[in-house]
Amino acid sequence: MVEIRLPKNSRVVEGKTYSVSKKEENTKRFKIYRWDPDHPDQNPRIDVYEMNRETCGSMVLDALIYIKNEVDTTLTFRRSCREGVCGSCSMNIDGTNTLACIKHIEDIKGDVHIYPLPHMPVIKDLVSDLSMAYAQYASLQPWLQAASPEFPDRERLQSPEDREKLDGLWECILCMCCSASCPSYWWNGDRYLGPAVLLQASRWINDSRDEYTGERLDNLEDPYRLYRCHTIMNCTQTCPKGLNPAKAIADTKQKMIKRQG
Ligand code: SF4
Ligand code: SF4
Ligand code: FES
Repeated sequence: MVEIRLPKNSRVVEGKTYSVSKKEENTKRFKIYRWDPDHPDQNPRIDVYEMNRETCGSMVLDALIYIKNEVDTTLTFRRSCREGVCGSCSMNIDGTNTLACIKHIEDIKGDVHIYPLPHMPVIKDLVSDLSMAYAQYASLQPWLQAASPEFPDRERLQSPEDREKLDGLWECILCMCCSASCPSYWWNGDRYLGPAVLLQASRWINDSRDEYTGERLDNLEDPYRLYRCHTIMNCTQTCPKGLNPAKAIADTKQKMIKRQG
């Protein structure tokens, strides 16, 4: 089972089984983690929804939306864009942190196991509490910073070559799949920034228009914030956008060494 941060003194128990479709052939079973903060005395449970594959669309998010609309309105999860650009629907599906809206049901052999992101506090069902990760992101001051005056007639420009240095960084949608897969973040998440936030740090450090690179590196110069990455690479393996946070972290460490001369 996926390592979920369970409420104190609780364990995961079997829940209800719902037979959603009338047809029995081509059935898929969705086994979904449920926990209701309004009943903190009750254990988290796994509810099972048996559905004919023709009942809903092709993605795991389609199944979740169908279940919420037609079977059980209390099922709670985040979603917005349904095309892999907002990062809202991150969860653990079939043992991997990913986005429900771009995960094909057909790619999953057997039952579809759906949990919230591992090692994160759970607000309800599949909704993880990302407050700490977002506070860590805010600590980067993630916007362009410059001391030189603005140009009256144009934006701050960047050469195509400098712009290319941001490729592999700007595409991050802050879904936190990588941070929730990182053992260092599981163990030291209160002090280590984790791969998602460090990839974002790299995005600003590498922006030729930003004039606070030194301050940004100072902000990471700490035994925990940056250096708790041990290059285990889970982050890169799990990123649903195909990004490489481990490389971004290694690049930042190299920049630290270079500036020390
Ligand atoms: S690096 Fe990938 S997994 Fe991590 S937050 Fe960004 S998009 Fe999500
Ligand atoms: S490479 Fe670093 S950030 Fe990525 S999973 Fe490993 S320890 Fe975490
Ligand atoms: S709903 Fe936006 S990424 Fe899945």
